[in-house]
Amino acid sequence: PRTAVVIPAAGKGVRLGPGAPKALRELGGTPMLVHAVRATARARAVELVVVVAPSDGVSAVRTLLDGHGLPEVAVVPGGDTRQDSVRLGLAALPDTVETVLVHDAARPLVPDETVDAVARAVRDGAPAVVPALPVTDTVKQVEPRGDGEPEPVTGTPDRGRLRAVQTPQGFSRKVLAEAHSRLTAQGEGATDDAGMVERLGVEVVVVPGHEEAFKVTRPLDLVLAEAVLARRRA
Ligand code: CTP
Ligand code: MG
Repeated sequence: PRTAVVIPAAGKGVRLGPGAPKALRELGGTPMLVHAVRATARARAVELVVVVAPSDGVSAVRTLLDGHGLPEVAVVPGGDTRQDSVRLGLAALPDTVETVLVHDAARPLVPDETVDAVARAVRDGAPAVVPALPVTDTVKQVEPRGDGEPEPVTGTPDRGRLRAVQTPQGFSRKVLAEAHSRLTAQGEGATDDAGMVERLGVEVVVVPGHEEAFKVTRPLDLVLAEAVLARRRA
């Protein structure tokens, strides 16, 4: 395979509230992870899917994917942070893979057109590609307090230049692997994979994201995800 997707799914889903690990929570009766695997595997560009499972849940995830008719999907154990989990997923890729997409299990409804658009941009020569949408809220920078007291505003970035980034993020495999190994050795990180690559000084480009690629983070996101799924099924 030349193009692979790594799906980090080893998080706990603390912000979603009590229950099973987030990737295993159900949407329309099917675990979010299964939706995410199907959504990415459906894309024309994708030839291999690697799921990064909680380290104590590899066999449970294996059984789950087999039960949903997805025996060809590889499953590897993850780490304590998303960054660790992605690095472990990258390490499991065969040597032939040149383009890697990293897609959150927590974005189960991403359209396959978005996945293909990201993969295409990488194959066309961009070393790092992120799907993103314009920000709709005005964003304030503050002096964080954390104690519930009012927080002083320190700035208002120009909204027209801001983008909210999604996944899958697509990379030249070599570039992403190098970013992960270098920054990990330095004990550094970033909140997304593109951020790691930016630190190497590699150019990252944005392509249009999709509203339905939103991340399920808080309980209200589950309500929206169920509604999107019901609309698709209608
Ligand atoms: N992830 C992972 N390994 C971790 C932490 C996160 O593979 N140690 C994955 C999650 O499973 C998710 C994706 O990274 O698919 C995006 O992370 P996020 O939305 O933050 O999910 P969680 O970390 O599970 O949620 P929370 O932060 O609320 O606990
Ligand atoms: Mg998290």
